[in-house]
Amino acid sequence: MAEKCFKYVIIGGGVSAGYAAREFEKQGVNPNELAIISKEAVAPYERPALSKGYMLPEGAARLPGFHVCVGSGGERLSPEWYTEKGITLILSTEIVKADLASKSLTSAACETFKYEVLIIATGSTVLRLEDFGIEGADAKNIFYLREIHDADKLVEAIKNKKNGNALVVGGGYIGLELSAALRINNYDVSMVYPEPWCMPRLFTADMAAFYEGYYKKKGVNIVKGTVAAGFVKGDSGEVKEVKLKNGNMVPADIVVVGVGAKPLINLFKGQVEEEKGGIKTDVFFKTSVDNVYAIGDVATFPMKMYGDVRRVEHVDHSRKSAEQAVKAIFASKQGKEIEAYHYLPYFYSRSFDLSWQFFGDNVGETVVFGNRDPTSEKPKFGTYWVKDGKVMGAFLESGTPEENQAICKVAKVQPPAPSLESLASEGLGFATKI
Ligand code: FDA
Ligand code: NAD
Repeated sequence: MAEKCFKYVIIGGGVSAGYAAREFEKQGVNPNELAIISKEAVAPYERPALSKGYMLPEGAARLPGFHVCVGSGGERLSPEWYTEKGITLILSTEIVKADLASKSLTSAACETFKYEVLIIATGSTVLRLEDFGIEGADAKNIFYLREIHDADKLVEAIKNKKNGNALVVGGGYIGLELSAALRINNYDVSMVYPEPWCMPRLFTADMAAFYEGYYKKKGVNIVKGTVAAGFVKGDSGEVKEVKLKNGNMVPADIVVVGVGAKPLINLFKGQVEEEKGGIKTDVFFKTSVDNVYAIGDVATFPMKMYGDVRRVEHVDHSRKSAEQAVKAIFASKQGKEIEAYHYLPYFYSRSFDLSWQFFGDNVGETVVFGNRDPTSEKPKFGTYWVKDGKVMGAFLESGTPEENQAICKVAKVQPPAPSLESLASEGLGFATKI
Protein backbone atom coordinates (compact mmCIF):
# COMPACT_ATOMS: atom_id res chain seq x y z
CA MET A 1 0.00 0.00 0.00
CA ALA A 2 1.30 3.51 -0.84
CA GLU A 3 2.77 5.46 2.01
CA LYS A 4 1.62 8.95 2.89
CA CYS A 5 4.07 11.60 4.05
CA PHE A 6 3.38 14.68 6.13
CA LYS A 7 5.60 17.22 7.75
CA TYR A 8 3.55 17.06 10.96
CA VAL A 9 1.42 14.17 12.21
CA ILE A 10 -0.78 14.17 15.30
CA ILE A 11 -1.70 10.68 16.42
CA GLY A 12 -5.06 10.86 18.21
CA GLY A 13 -8.03 13.02 17.31
CA GLY A 14 -9.34 14.15 20.69
CA VAL A 15 -9.34 17.41 22.57
CA SER A 16 -5.64 18.13 22.45
CA ALA A 17 -5.42 17.26 18.74
CA GLY A 18 -8.19 19.75 17.96
CA TYR A 19 -6.60 22.56 19.95
CA ALA A 20 -3.23 21.75 18.38
CA ALA A 21 -4.79 22.04 14.91
CA ARG A 22 -6.11 25.50 15.73
CA GLU A 23 -2.66 26.57 16.95
CA PHE A 24 -0.97 25.12 13.82
CA GLU A 25 -3.29 27.25 11.72
CA LYS A 26 -2.53 30.36 13.82
CA GLN A 27 1.20 29.70 13.42
CA GLY A 28 0.79 29.54 9.62
CA VAL A 29 1.06 25.85 8.78
CA ASN A 30 1.00 25.33 5.01
CA PRO A 31 -1.73 23.31 3.28
CA ASN A 32 -1.07 19.54 3.27
CA GLU A 33 1.67 19.73 5.90
CA LEU A 34 -0.44 18.55 8.85
CA ALA A 35 -2.42 15.32 9.32
CA ILE A 36 -4.47 14.16 12.30
CA ILE A 37 -4.89 10.39 12.50
CA SER A 38 -7.73 9.25 14.75
CA LYS A 39 -9.43 5.97 15.44
CA GLU A 40 -12.63 7.91 16.07
CA ALA A 41 -14.96 8.51 13.12
CA VAL A 42 -15.49 12.22 13.80
CA ALA A 43 -13.41 15.39 13.93
CA PRO A 44 -12.08 16.47 17.36
CA TYR A 45 -14.80 17.42 19.82
CA GLU A 46 -15.10 18.57 23.42
CA ARG A 47 -15.06 15.21 25.23
CA PRO A 48 -16.54 16.58 28.53
CA ALA A 49 -19.91 17.00 26.76
CA LEU A 50 -20.30 13.21 26.55
CA SER A 51 -21.07 12.77 30.24
CA LYS A 52 -23.18 15.92 30.49
CA GLY A 53 -25.19 17.53 27.64
CA TYR A 54 -24.96 14.41 25.44
CA MET A 55 -26.95 12.37 27.99
CA LEU A 56 -29.89 14.77 28.41
CA PRO A 57 -33.35 13.35 27.63
CA GLU A 58 -34.35 16.59 25.84
CA GLY A 59 -32.28 19.08 23.87
CA ALA A 60 -29.20 16.87 24.06
CA ALA A 61 -25.87 18.11 22.70
CA ARG A 62 -25.01 16.52 19.33
CA LEU A 63 -22.28 17.02 16.78
CA PRO A 64 -21.48 19.25 15.01
CA GLY A 65 -22.53 21.44 17.98
CA PHE A 66 -19.59 20.63 20.24
CA HIS A 67 -16.56 20.26 18.03
CA VAL A 68 -13.51 21.94 19.56
CA CYS A 69 -12.91 24.76 20.43
CA VAL A 70 -16.39 25.73 21.70
CA GLY A 71 -15.68 24.41 25.21
CA SER A 72 -13.32 27.29 25.88
CA GLY A 73 -15.43 29.87 24.07
CA GLY A 74 -13.48 29.59 20.82
CA GLU A 75 -14.31 29.01 17.16
CA ARG A 76 -16.02 25.68 16.33
CA LEU A 77 -13.72 23.67 14.08
CA SER A 78 -16.20 21.77 11.90
CA PRO A 79 -14.91 19.05 9.53
CA GLU A 80 -15.08 21.68 6.74
CA TRP A 81 -12.69 23.93 8.68
CA TYR A 82 -9.93 21.31 8.33
CA THR A 83 -10.60 20.99 4.60
CA GLU A 84 -10.50 24.77 4.12
CA LYS A 85 -7.20 25.02 5.97
CA GLY A 86 -5.61 22.12 4.10
CA ILE A 87 -5.34 20.00 7.28
CA THR A 88 -5.83 16.30 6.54
CA LEU A 89 -8.19 14.45 8.88
CA ILE A 90 -7.60 10.72 8.65
CA LEU A 91 -10.52 9.28 10.62
CA SER A 92 -11.57 5.74 11.62
CA THR A 93 -7.90 4.84 11.43
CA GLU A 94 -6.18 3.14 14.34
CA ILE A 95 -2.40 3.22 14.46
CA VAL A 96 -1.20 -0.20 15.60
CA LYS A 97 2.54 0.28 15.21
CA ALA A 98 4.80 3.27 15.74
CA ASP A 99 8.46 3.16 14.81
CA LEU A 100 10.03 6.34 16.11
CA ALA A 101 13.48 5.46 14.69
CA SER A 102 12.22 5.30 11.09
CA LYS A 103 9.55 7.98 11.72
CA SER A 104 6.74 5.81 10.50
CA LEU A 105 3.32 4.76 11.70
CA THR A 106 1.28 1.78 10.54
CA SER A 107 -2.50 1.57 10.70
CA ALA A 108 -4.69 -1.48 11.37
CA ALA A 109 -5.44 -1.48 7.61
CA CYS A 110 -1.66 -1.63 6.91
CA GLU A 111 -1.31 1.95 5.62
CA THR A 112 2.02 3.63 6.35
CA PHE A 113 2.37 7.25 7.40
CA LYS A 114 5.73 9.04 7.50
CA TYR A 115 6.34 12.26 9.39
CA GLU A 116 9.07 14.74 10.25
CA VAL A 117 7.52 15.84 13.54
CA LEU A 118 5.14 13.66 15.58
CA ILE A 119 2.72 14.76 18.30
CA ILE A 120 1.41 11.95 20.48
CA ALA A 121 -2.13 12.79 21.61
CA THR A 122 -3.63 9.35 22.21
CA GLY A 123 -5.28 10.26 25.54
CA SER A 124 -6.52 7.61 27.93
CA THR A 125 -8.54 4.45 27.85
CA VAL A 126 -10.91 3.16 30.52
CA LEU A 127 -10.02 0.51 33.06
CA ARG A 128 -12.38 -2.41 32.51
CA LEU A 129 -13.94 -4.74 35.07
CA GLU A 130 -12.83 -7.76 32.99
CA ASP A 131 -9.26 -6.71 33.87
CA PHE A 132 -10.10 -7.31 37.54
CA GLY A 133 -11.48 -10.78 36.69
CA ILE A 134 -15.02 -10.00 37.88
CA GLU A 135 -17.49 -12.74 36.97
CA GLY A 136 -19.95 -11.79 34.20
CA ALA A 137 -18.15 -8.50 33.47
CA ASP A 138 -18.42 -9.16 29.71
CA ALA A 139 -22.24 -8.80 29.71
CA LYS A 140 -23.80 -6.74 26.91
CA ASN A 141 -25.45 -4.11 29.07
CA ILE A 142 -22.31 -3.02 30.93
CA PHE A 143 -21.24 0.36 29.56
CA TYR A 144 -18.07 2.44 29.70
CA LEU A 145 -17.72 6.02 28.53
CA ARG A 146 -14.70 7.41 26.73
CA GLU A 147 -15.55 8.08 23.10
CA ILE A 148 -18.60 9.19 21.18
CA HIS A 149 -19.43 5.66 20.01
CA ASP A 150 -19.55 4.60 23.70
CA ALA A 151 -21.90 7.51 24.41
CA ASP A 152 -24.15 6.51 21.48
CA LYS A 153 -24.43 2.94 22.78
CA LEU A 154 -25.33 4.19 26.24
CA VAL A 155 -27.91 6.68 24.91
CA GLU A 156 -29.52 3.86 22.92
CA ALA A 157 -29.67 1.61 26.00
CA ILE A 158 -31.13 4.42 28.11
CA LYS A 159 -33.95 4.75 25.54
CA ASN A 160 -34.53 1.00 25.31
CA LYS A 161 -34.69 0.31 29.03
CA LYS A 162 -36.83 3.37 29.83
CA ASN A 163 -37.43 4.02 33.54
CA GLY A 164 -35.42 0.95 34.56
CA ASN A 165 -32.77 0.29 37.20
CA ALA A 166 -29.22 1.47 36.74
CA LEU A 167 -26.13 0.60 38.74
CA VAL A 168 -23.16 2.93 38.50
CA VAL A 169 -19.84 1.39 39.50
CA GLY A 170 -17.28 3.96 40.68
CA GLY A 171 -17.44 7.12 42.75
CA GLY A 172 -15.16 9.40 40.73
CA TYR A 173 -15.89 11.80 37.89
CA ILE A 174 -17.72 9.38 35.63
CA GLY A 175 -19.61 7.86 38.58
CA LEU A 176 -20.92 11.21 39.79
CA GLU A 177 -21.70 12.72 36.37
CA LEU A 178 -23.36 9.57 34.97
CA SER A 179 -25.42 8.84 38.11
CA ALA A 180 -26.90 12.30 37.73
CA ALA A 181 -27.47 11.82 33.98
CA LEU A 182 -29.25 8.49 34.53
CA ARG A 183 -31.40 9.97 37.29
CA ILE A 184 -32.36 12.85 34.98
CA ASN A 185 -33.41 10.14 32.51
CA ASN A 186 -35.73 8.83 35.21
CA TYR A 187 -33.78 5.70 36.12
CA ASP A 188 -33.66 4.26 39.63
CA VAL A 189 -29.97 4.74 40.25
CA SER A 190 -27.63 3.05 42.70
CA MET A 191 -23.98 3.99 42.90
CA VAL A 192 -21.35 1.70 44.39
CA TYR A 193 -17.73 2.48 45.30
CA PRO A 194 -15.14 1.07 47.66
CA GLU A 195 -14.03 4.24 49.45
CA PRO A 196 -15.66 5.83 52.53
CA TRP A 197 -16.70 8.85 50.41
CA CYS A 198 -17.01 9.88 46.77
CA MET A 199 -14.26 11.51 44.67
CA PRO A 200 -11.59 10.88 47.30
CA ARG A 201 -8.81 12.11 45.05
CA LEU A 202 -10.13 15.66 45.44
CA PHE A 203 -12.98 15.83 47.96
CA THR A 204 -12.50 15.90 51.71
CA ALA A 205 -15.07 14.05 53.86
CA ASP A 206 -16.90 17.38 54.44
CA MET A 207 -17.14 18.16 50.75
CA ALA A 208 -18.23 14.64 49.86
CA ALA A 209 -20.93 14.70 52.55
CA PHE A 210 -22.58 17.58 50.70
CA TYR A 211 -22.57 15.80 47.31
CA GLU A 212 -23.71 12.49 48.79
CA GLY A 213 -26.54 14.30 50.60
CA TYR A 214 -27.52 16.16 47.43
CA TYR A 215 -27.52 12.97 45.33
CA LYS A 216 -29.63 11.27 47.99
CA LYS A 217 -32.09 14.18 47.83
CA LYS A 218 -32.27 13.61 44.06
CA GLY A 219 -33.07 9.93 44.65
CA VAL A 220 -29.66 8.29 44.04
CA ASN A 221 -28.99 5.33 46.34
CA ILE A 222 -25.33 5.42 47.40
CA VAL A 223 -23.63 2.19 48.52
CA LYS A 224 -20.17 2.88 49.93
CA GLY A 225 -17.32 0.71 51.10
CA THR A 226 -17.94 -2.20 48.76
CA VAL A 227 -17.51 -3.21 45.12
CA ALA A 228 -19.34 -5.13 42.41
CA ALA A 229 -18.20 -8.75 42.82
CA GLY A 230 -20.21 -10.48 40.07
CA PHE A 231 -22.87 -9.89 37.41
CA VAL A 232 -25.78 -12.28 37.19
CA LYS A 233 -26.92 -12.62 33.58
CA GLY A 234 -30.34 -13.62 32.25
CA ASP A 235 -30.98 -15.73 29.12
CA SER A 236 -30.37 -12.74 26.83
CA GLY A 237 -26.79 -12.44 28.09
CA GLU A 238 -27.66 -9.18 29.81
CA VAL A 239 -27.07 -8.40 33.46
CA LYS A 240 -30.19 -8.64 35.61
CA GLU A 241 -28.63 -8.32 39.04
CA VAL A 242 -25.30 -7.33 40.49
CA LYS A 243 -23.74 -9.16 43.38
CA LEU A 244 -21.89 -6.82 45.74
CA LYS A 245 -18.92 -7.89 47.83
CA ASN A 246 -20.90 -7.05 50.99
CA GLY A 247 -23.36 -9.82 50.03
CA ASN A 248 -26.21 -7.57 48.79
CA MET A 249 -27.84 -7.95 45.37
CA VAL A 250 -28.77 -4.88 43.30
CA PRO A 251 -31.17 -5.09 40.32
CA ALA A 252 -29.79 -3.55 37.11
CA ASP A 253 -31.06 -3.06 33.55
CA ILE A 254 -28.02 -0.93 32.80
CA VAL A 255 -24.58 -0.91 34.43
CA VAL A 256 -22.25 2.06 33.89
CA VAL A 257 -18.65 1.69 34.96
CA GLY A 258 -16.20 4.49 35.79
CA VAL A 259 -13.33 2.95 37.73
CA GLY A 260 -10.53 5.06 36.31
CA ALA A 261 -8.47 5.48 33.16
CA LYS A 262 -4.92 4.80 31.99
CA PRO A 263 -2.89 6.67 29.38
CA LEU A 264 -2.56 5.03 25.96
CA ILE A 265 1.21 4.80 25.54
CA ASN A 266 1.78 1.13 24.66
CA LEU A 267 2.66 1.93 21.03
CA PHE A 268 5.75 3.78 22.21
CA LYS A 269 6.97 1.40 24.94
CA GLY A 270 10.75 1.06 24.97
CA GLN A 271 11.15 3.86 22.41
CA VAL A 272 10.58 6.90 24.59
CA GLU A 273 11.28 7.71 28.23
CA GLU A 274 8.39 7.29 30.64
CA GLU A 275 7.70 8.70 34.07
CA LYS A 276 4.81 8.29 36.52
CA GLY A 277 2.88 6.16 34.03
CA GLY A 278 3.07 8.69 31.20
CA ILE A 279 5.47 9.86 28.49
CA LYS A 280 8.12 12.08 30.03
CA THR A 281 8.29 15.57 28.49
CA ASP A 282 9.99 18.87 29.14
CA VAL A 283 8.23 22.22 29.59
CA PHE A 284 7.65 22.37 25.80
CA PHE A 285 6.15 18.84 25.70
CA LYS A 286 9.20 17.50 23.87
CA THR A 287 9.83 13.86 24.66
CA SER A 288 13.19 12.11 24.97
CA VAL A 289 13.09 11.47 21.19
CA ASP A 290 13.94 14.29 18.78
CA ASN A 291 10.95 15.77 16.97
CA VAL A 292 8.46 13.77 19.03
CA TYR A 293 6.09 15.63 21.36
CA ALA A 294 3.44 14.30 23.78
CA ILE A 295 0.42 16.33 24.93
CA GLY A 296 -2.78 15.96 26.95
CA ASP A 297 -3.45 12.94 29.18
CA VAL A 298 -0.34 11.01 28.07
CA ALA A 299 2.27 13.63 29.05
CA THR A 300 4.15 13.62 32.36
CA PHE A 301 5.50 17.17 32.48
CA PRO A 302 7.34 19.46 34.91
CA MET A 303 4.80 21.24 37.09
CA LYS A 304 6.74 24.43 37.72
CA MET A 305 4.29 25.73 40.35
CA TYR A 306 5.00 22.82 42.68
CA GLY A 307 8.50 21.75 41.67
CA ASP A 308 7.54 18.22 40.67
CA VAL A 309 6.40 16.31 37.59
CA ARG A 310 2.79 15.28 36.98
CA ARG A 311 0.34 13.84 34.55
CA VAL A 312 -3.03 15.58 34.36
CA GLU A 313 -6.22 13.95 33.03
CA HIS A 314 -8.31 17.09 32.58
CA VAL A 315 -9.45 19.09 29.61
CA ASP A 316 -7.92 22.48 30.47
CA HIS A 317 -4.42 20.97 30.45
CA SER A 318 -5.09 19.05 27.24
CA ARG A 319 -5.97 22.33 25.50
CA LYS A 320 -3.07 24.32 26.94
CA SER A 321 -0.42 21.62 26.47
CA ALA A 322 -1.46 21.35 22.81
CA GLU A 323 -1.01 25.08 22.27
CA GLN A 324 2.31 25.09 24.09
CA ALA A 325 3.74 22.21 22.02
CA VAL A 326 2.75 23.74 18.69
CA LYS A 327 4.11 27.17 19.68
CA ALA A 328 7.37 25.46 20.71
CA ILE A 329 7.60 23.59 17.39
CA PHE A 330 7.26 26.81 15.39
CA ALA A 331 9.58 28.78 17.67
CA SER A 332 12.30 26.14 17.40
CA LYS A 333 12.08 26.35 13.58
CA GLN A 334 13.06 30.00 13.96
CA GLY A 335 15.77 29.17 16.47
CA LYS A 336 13.72 30.80 19.25
CA GLU A 337 12.47 29.52 22.57
CA ILE A 338 9.13 30.27 24.14
CA GLU A 339 8.32 30.60 27.84
CA ALA A 340 8.23 27.38 29.85
CA TYR A 341 4.79 25.82 30.50
CA HIS A 342 3.49 27.36 33.67
CA TYR A 343 0.38 25.43 34.52
CA LEU A 344 -2.09 26.10 37.30
CA PRO A 345 -4.22 22.95 37.74
CA TYR A 346 -7.88 23.60 36.98
CA PHE A 347 -10.57 20.93 37.27
CA TYR A 348 -14.34 21.26 37.14
CA SER A 349 -17.50 19.21 37.02
CA ARG A 350 -21.23 19.71 36.55
CA SER A 351 -24.13 17.46 37.52
CA PHE A 352 -27.83 18.11 38.22
CA ASP A 353 -27.88 21.87 38.84
CA LEU A 354 -24.53 21.81 40.60
CA SER A 355 -21.28 23.13 39.20
CA TRP A 356 -17.89 23.31 40.90
CA GLN A 357 -14.44 24.54 40.04
CA PHE A 358 -11.08 23.80 41.65
CA PHE A 359 -7.73 25.52 41.16
CA GLY A 360 -4.29 24.71 42.52
CA ASP A 361 -3.02 21.88 44.66
CA ASN A 362 -5.11 19.90 47.15
CA VAL A 363 -2.40 19.47 49.77
CA GLY A 364 -2.17 20.24 53.48
CA GLU A 365 -4.91 21.14 55.91
CA THR A 366 -8.37 22.14 54.76
CA VAL A 367 -11.03 24.60 55.82
CA VAL A 368 -14.54 24.53 54.49
CA PHE A 369 -16.80 27.59 54.40
CA GLY A 370 -20.30 28.57 53.30
CA ASN A 371 -23.62 26.77 53.15
CA ARG A 372 -23.15 23.08 52.51
CA ASP A 373 -26.58 21.93 53.57
CA PRO A 374 -27.72 19.72 50.67
CA THR A 375 -31.38 20.27 51.52
CA SER A 376 -31.20 24.07 51.30
CA GLU A 377 -32.55 25.98 48.32
CA LYS A 378 -29.25 27.48 47.14
CA PRO A 379 -26.24 25.78 48.68
CA LYS A 380 -22.90 27.47 48.01
CA PHE A 381 -19.68 26.50 49.71
CA GLY A 382 -15.96 26.24 49.25
CA THR A 383 -12.74 24.79 50.58
CA TYR A 384 -9.20 26.12 50.96
CA TRP A 385 -6.10 23.93 51.21
CA VAL A 386 -3.33 25.36 53.39
CA LYS A 387 0.26 24.17 53.47
CA ASP A 388 3.33 25.77 55.07
CA GLY A 389 1.26 28.85 55.92
CA LYS A 390 0.13 29.45 52.33
CA VAL A 391 -3.21 28.86 50.62
CA MET A 392 -2.37 26.30 47.92
CA GLY A 393 -5.74 25.30 46.50
CA ALA A 394 -9.32 26.55 46.38
CA PHE A 395 -12.63 24.94 45.51
CA LEU A 396 -16.02 26.54 45.00
CA GLU A 397 -19.46 25.04 44.42
CA SER A 398 -21.98 27.25 42.58
CA GLY A 399 -19.68 30.24 42.19
CA THR A 400 -20.33 33.12 39.81
CA PRO A 401 -17.73 33.67 37.05
CA GLU A 402 -16.20 36.51 39.13
CA GLU A 403 -16.02 34.34 42.24
CA ASN A 404 -14.41 31.51 40.29
CA GLN A 405 -11.86 34.01 39.01
CA ALA A 406 -11.20 35.02 42.61
CA ILE A 407 -10.45 31.44 43.77
CA CYS A 408 -8.28 30.98 40.67
CA LYS A 409 -6.26 34.01 41.73
CA VAL A 410 -5.84 32.64 45.26
CA ALA A 411 -4.37 29.40 43.92
CA LYS A 412 -2.07 31.33 41.60
CA VAL A 413 -0.85 33.85 44.19
CA GLN A 414 -0.66 31.39 47.14
CA PRO A 415 -1.24 34.16 49.71
CA PRO A 416 -0.22 33.72 53.35
CA ALA A 417 -3.06 32.05 55.21
CA PRO A 418 -4.50 33.60 58.35
CA SER A 419 -5.47 31.08 61.05
CA LEU A 420 -7.71 28.30 59.83
CA GLU A 421 -10.51 29.75 61.99
CA SER A 422 -10.37 33.17 60.38
CA LEU A 423 -10.02 31.67 56.91
CA ALA A 424 -13.19 29.71 57.59
CA SER A 425 -15.08 32.75 58.83
CA GLU A 426 -13.84 35.03 56.03
CA GLY A 427 -14.82 32.37 53.50
CA LEU A 428 -15.17 33.64 49.95
CA GLY A 429 -14.38 37.17 51.18
CA PHE A 430 -10.75 36.07 51.61
CA ALA A 431 -10.54 35.19 47.90
CA THR A 432 -12.35 38.24 46.57
CA LYS A 433 -9.93 40.66 48.31
CA ILE A 434 -6.75 39.04 46.88
P1 FDA B 1 -8.58 12.39 24.21
O1 FDA B 1 -9.08 11.17 24.93
O2 FDA B 1 -9.47 13.56 24.16
O3 FDA B 1 -8.21 11.99 22.71
C1 FDA B 1 -7.43 10.88 22.38
C2 FDA B 1 -7.72 10.51 20.95
O4 FDA B 1 -6.75 9.60 20.48
C3 FDA B 1 -9.07 9.82 20.76
O5 FDA B 1 -9.70 10.38 19.63
C4 FDA B 1 -8.67 8.37 20.48
O6 FDA B 1 -9.59 7.68 19.68
C5 FDA B 1 -7.37 8.58 19.74
N1 FDA B 1 -6.48 7.43 19.72
C6 FDA B 1 -6.00 6.74 20.78
N2 FDA B 1 -5.17 5.76 20.36
C7 FDA B 1 -5.12 5.84 19.01
C8 FDA B 1 -4.45 5.09 18.01
N3 FDA B 1 -3.64 4.08 18.32
N4 FDA B 1 -4.64 5.43 16.72
C9 FDA B 1 -5.44 6.47 16.39
N5 FDA B 1 -6.10 7.21 17.31
C10 FDA B 1 -5.95 6.90 18.59
N6 FDA B 1 -12.02 16.95 32.03
C11 FDA B 1 -12.36 18.11 32.67
O7 FDA B 1 -11.46 18.86 33.06
N7 FDA B 1 -13.67 18.43 32.88
C12 FDA B 1 -14.68 17.62 32.47
O8 FDA B 1 -15.86 17.93 32.70
C13 FDA B 1 -14.35 16.39 31.82
N8 FDA B 1 -15.33 15.56 31.40
C14 FDA B 1 -14.99 14.35 30.81
C15 FDA B 1 -16.02 13.50 30.42
C16 FDA B 1 -15.71 12.27 29.86
C17 FDA B 1 -16.81 11.34 29.44
C18 FDA B 1 -14.36 11.89 29.66
C19 FDA B 1 -14.02 10.55 29.05
C20 FDA B 1 -13.34 12.76 30.03
C21 FDA B 1 -13.67 14.00 30.61
N9 FDA B 1 -12.66 14.90 31.00
C22 FDA B 1 -13.00 16.09 31.60
C23 FDA B 1 -11.25 14.60 30.73
C24 FDA B 1 -10.80 15.21 29.40
O9 FDA B 1 -11.80 15.01 28.42
C25 FDA B 1 -9.49 14.60 28.96
O10 FDA B 1 -8.51 14.92 29.92
C26 FDA B 1 -9.08 15.10 27.58
O11 FDA B 1 -10.02 14.70 26.61
C27 FDA B 1 -7.70 14.59 27.21
O12 FDA B 1 -7.39 15.00 25.92
P2 FDA B 1 -6.43 14.12 24.99
O13 FDA B 1 -6.40 14.78 23.67
O14 FDA B 1 -5.18 13.84 25.72
O15 FDA B 1 -7.18 12.72 24.87
P1 NAD C 1 -11.69 8.44 38.56
O1 NAD C 1 -10.27 8.15 38.83
O2 NAD C 1 -12.19 9.84 38.71
O3 NAD C 1 -12.57 7.58 39.55
C1 NAD C 1 -12.40 6.21 39.69
C2 NAD C 1 -13.24 5.74 40.85
O4 NAD C 1 -13.38 4.35 40.68
C3 NAD C 1 -12.63 5.88 42.23
O5 NAD C 1 -13.01 7.05 42.87
C4 NAD C 1 -13.24 4.71 42.95
O6 NAD C 1 -14.38 5.12 43.63
C5 NAD C 1 -13.72 3.80 41.91
N1 NAD C 1 -13.28 2.42 41.91
C6 NAD C 1 -12.04 1.92 41.70
N2 NAD C 1 -12.11 0.57 41.67
C7 NAD C 1 -13.41 0.23 41.84
C8 NAD C 1 -14.12 -0.99 41.87
N3 NAD C 1 -13.51 -2.15 41.72
N4 NAD C 1 -15.47 -0.93 42.05
C9 NAD C 1 -16.09 0.25 42.19
N5 NAD C 1 -15.47 1.42 42.14
C10 NAD C 1 -14.15 1.41 41.99
O7 NAD C 1 -12.00 7.85 37.12
P2 NAD C 1 -13.32 7.92 36.22
O8 NAD C 1 -14.42 8.56 36.96
O9 NAD C 1 -13.51 6.55 35.68
O10 NAD C 1 -12.89 8.88 35.04
C11 NAD C 1 -12.10 8.41 33.95
C12 NAD C 1 -11.31 9.52 33.32
O11 NAD C 1 -12.16 10.50 32.78
C13 NAD C 1 -10.38 10.24 34.26
O12 NAD C 1 -9.23 10.57 33.53
C14 NAD C 1 -11.13 11.50 34.59
O13 NAD C 1 -10.25 12.56 34.92
C15 NAD C 1 -11.86 11.77 33.31
N6 NAD C 1 -13.11 12.50 33.56
C16 NAD C 1 -13.03 13.75 34.07
C17 NAD C 1 -14.17 14.46 34.31
C18 NAD C 1 -14.07 15.84 34.89
O14 NAD C 1 -12.95 16.34 35.02
N7 NAD C 1 -15.20 16.49 35.22
C19 NAD C 1 -15.43 13.91 34.02
C20 NAD C 1 -15.47 12.61 33.50
C21 NAD C 1 -14.30 11.93 33.27
